[in-house]
Amino acid sequence: MTEALRQHCESIKAAYPEAQSALIPILHALQDTYGYVTPQAVEEAAELMAMTPAEVEGVVSFYTLFHRQAKGRFHIQVCDNLSCRLRGADQLVAHLAERWRLEPGAASPDGLFSLERVECLAACGYAPVAQVNLRYYYHLTPEKADQVLGGLADGEEARGERI
Ligand code: FES
Repeated sequence: MTEALRQHCESIKAAYPEAQSALIPILHALQDTYGYVTPQAVEEAAELMAMTPAEVEGVVSFYTLFHRQAKGRFHIQVCDNLSCRLRGADQLVAHLAERWRLEPGAASPDGLFSLERVECLAACGYAPVAQVNLRYYYHLTPEKADQVLGGLADGEEARGERI
């Protein structure tokens, strides 16, 4: 851990009346720095927070916004819950695997995309839903997903959609 990162984490910790409340923002800072929550990040967070690595692991594994593997520049999270599955999320993921060579839990070899199945994204009325870098896309079909990923591959930013 660099001295600058340590100081940043210490400043986060100092902002909370209860030091342990800083664990989640500190994990975000470590994830932003390393790209994902590495085993080293878990050790560092544990040391900073005077916790055991197992306690930190318990928090990291609970929240889907913490990642355990390197993400692509565009991280695609496809909802894996009931409404989305009933409306084609499985077919969408199968299409992403076939057309874009994306497998859940892994980044593409060029580092552009990564794919993850996640729990309900709280937009069930617009199923199937995915988010790309936390921007929502609704009523996704394979054709629409091709348009979105094609645009991103051509240099667009993930802007999501308004409903
Ligand atoms: S089931 Fe997919 S957003 Fe809720």
